[in-house]
Amino acid sequence: MSSIKVIDANGASHILEAVEGWRVMEIIREHGFEVGGLCGGACACATCHVEVDGQWLEKLHPANDDEEAMLDQVPMLTDGSRLSCQIIYTPELEGLTVKLVANG
Ligand code: FES
Repeated sequence: MSSIKVIDANGASHILEAVEGWRVMEIIREHGFEVGGLCGGACACATCHVEVDGQWLEKLHPANDDEEAMLDQVPMLTDGSRLSCQIIYTPELEGLTVKLVANG
């Protein structure tokens, strides 16, 4: 099973089935977790902000200028901050680990 690991606001880990080609935001939302996604993945709201586990950061394509601009608006930016709608799941991301953060 293709999967990603999500750490919720209480620190609990969840293994979520992942589908190739889906945005990580969509995978998280499909499993019933609150991950924002107000703009539907258009990189225009930053409500899908998550914190990517450090060991996975270098395996992701770098954020483009649009994503960087939106990330500048999140209240709690960290080194692992990414917009989950800008990460498309591929088999190389099997086991990707992200932490949900409060974006309100
Ligand atoms: S869903 Fe709006 S920026 Fe990701």
